[in-house]
Amino acid sequence: MSFPSGFLDDLTSRISLSQVVGRKVTWDARRSKQSKGDMWAPCPFHQEKTASFHVDDRKGVYYCFGCHAKGNVFRFVQDTENVSFMEAVEILAREAGMQVPKPDPEAQQKADRRTQLAEVMEQAVQHYRLKLRAGAGTAARDYLSGRGLSESALTRWEIGFAPNERQNLFTFLTGKGVGADLVIDAGLAVSPDDGGKPYDRFRDRIIFPIRDPRGVAVALAGRAMDPNAYAKYLNSPETELFDKGRCLYNHGPARKASGEAPLIVAEGYMDVIALSEAGFETTVAPMGTAVTEQQLRLIWQMHDEPVIALDGDEAGFRAAVRVAELSLPLLEAGKSLRFCMMPEGMDPDDLIRSGGTAAMRSQVEESLPLLQLLWRRETEGRSFDSPERRATLDSNMRAAVGRIRDPSLRRHYNDEIFHLMRSLSDARRPARRRGRVPGAGWPGEAAGPMAATKTSALASADTRAHEHLKEAVILASLVTHPGIVPRFVAELEQLDTTRPEHEAVRKALLAVEDSGREAVEENCGSQALEKLFRSRHVQIAPAMQPDAGEEFAALAVTKEFENLVAKRGAHKDIQEAMQDIKGDADESLTYRLSEAAQTLTGSDREAAEDETEYEFGPNGARMNRKERGDLDALIEGLDYEKPRGRT
Ligand code: UTP
Ligand code: MN
Repeated sequence: MSFPSGFLDDLTSRISLSQVVGRKVTWDARRSKQSKGDMWAPCPFHQEKTASFHVDDRKGVYYCFGCHAKGNVFRFVQDTENVSFMEAVEILAREAGMQVPKPDPEAQQKADRRTQLAEVMEQAVQHYRLKLRAGAGTAARDYLSGRGLSESALTRWEIGFAPNERQNLFTFLTGKGVGADLVIDAGLAVSPDDGGKPYDRFRDRIIFPIRDPRGVAVALAGRAMDPNAYAKYLNSPETELFDKGRCLYNHGPARKASGEAPLIVAEGYMDVIALSEAGFETTVAPMGTAVTEQQLRLIWQMHDEPVIALDGDEAGFRAAVRVAELSLPLLEAGKSLRFCMMPEGMDPDDLIRSGGTAAMRSQVEESLPLLQLLWRRETEGRSFDSPERRATLDSNMRAAVGRIRDPSLRRHYNDEIFHLMRSLSDARRPARRRGRVPGAGWPGEAAGPMAATKTSALASADTRAHEHLKEAVILASLVTHPGIVPRFVAELEQLDTTRPEHEAVRKALLAVEDSGREAVEENCGSQALEKLFRSRHVQIAPAMQPDAGEEFAALAVTKEFENLVAKRGAHKDIQEAMQDIKGDADESLTYRLSEAAQTLTGSDREAAEDETEYEFGPNGARMNRKERGDLDALIEGLDYEKPRGRT
């Protein structure tokens, strides 16, 4: 039996081969590169100790270099579960939460018909290619070379030309014995309502063939050369072969080339061609419509973090935001999007022509993460000078992120929003402080620092700054006492640093472990270390004193790590508490709470540090008693009429 068109594609786009295979094998961790979908294991089909069984997750195929077993996910399930193809489909559909369509007695007939239509399409493609070479194609050839397309590009993209005649293709195809109904059903000719003779859909247009991933021609796009033509591009209508929402231009070649290089999603056919010709071979485009969910799934199969490169205009930005919105409920760990913002008024084709490959490459390198794009949509050209405005922003961002279904991912995004909101307030802080009476105003607003501590970073209400100091002490202590580094590898690996120079030192420590300060310096550069040791806080840290021995340093570092983890745990809890009460609280209150939380975790910390007693927050994160108390008060209280904690 055959399935309705697209069913099996849909199914395979929802399951990962490596996940299915992973239940039967133990991956070779050293050889496998999960992020690239490049997995190795000892072969499940023959006895062996080495890992010669390879899974290419993106292409959905496996191959054993030992016994030459190969196939796709259906073959794998058939052979490992000893079931038929139909049963394998059923097993996998159940896992993917899809209904297996009822047997369709006409399916075979439909399949035959699709084959016929595909043959007609192929003949049309070849016919139009010949027409581009003929006399009638002169103007089209000039136009194409004027747009910078080489002869080899014309061949590679199989570009053709539809002459300006009513029945050029129709006469050609029917003359070859193709039935008029097939020409019409392939979308190549239009049958007028008045019962007149069918006429060609594409006239006086440059023809771009559109093929499915297997290489079958399923549609055509025709570009008018005349700027006054009623549509710049005319696409094939949806047919039995062509499902717009599931089709990607250049899908097959892009999938074949996919790997290391970024996968670019452009808006137009010409962009795909220009990008590919410039060396960005893994590029696709939708069919002149907004990117659909199915297209996004297909794109994610090729790359975990595709780059959306839409035109540098208002419409392009809106389209990018639409893709971002569409992606939110579909995001899962490891899958994301980036957004490449084209210079004003340019599309990738324009940019490559004016600035070459280098200009495009740097644009791709600077592409924005998904959350940054949403942030930009919410903030660009607006001012956030009132708590209410900031509260609305916070609320909008959280609503967007709330659509992410994966809980752990959602949490990471919420963390990120927290810091973005923070940076917004920080940018405003100096102005707000001027002339303020300490302790007055919103509970969340930090009291002005005491004159004596004004210049100390510790006096800042910014907890991130506080974390930064703790991090600095940890890293500097480890650099000074290389012998203890191996004991802290796990903690170092998990340390989410606040600054680039810290990140450099962290990475260096992990790379050289106990090889000493010189080795660290060689690895991360002297500037990062200099910056690290310059801080007074570091200089006075106990582990940094001349008489501090290794064991003492190890104890101090352990304590610092615990403290840092506890602080960050408290952060998370407060954020979650704010999420929870959101339903009841008005938006500006939510925002004020967020500011309050910051101040609470940040203030009085020296006192808290000395007699830190730990408790566990609702999420299992360790936090000290004071923070826990503050959090509880936050959740319970909610009456923020009177300023807390400052009398
Ligand atoms: P653009 O207007 O950005 O065109 O449309 P483009 O791709 O840059 O093409 P050139 O460089 O002017 O030749 C982007 C895409 O939108 C669809 C097409 O898929 C096009 O590639 N489109 C555009 C249509 O389907 N119909 C139209 O009339 C215009
Ligand atoms: Mn263009």
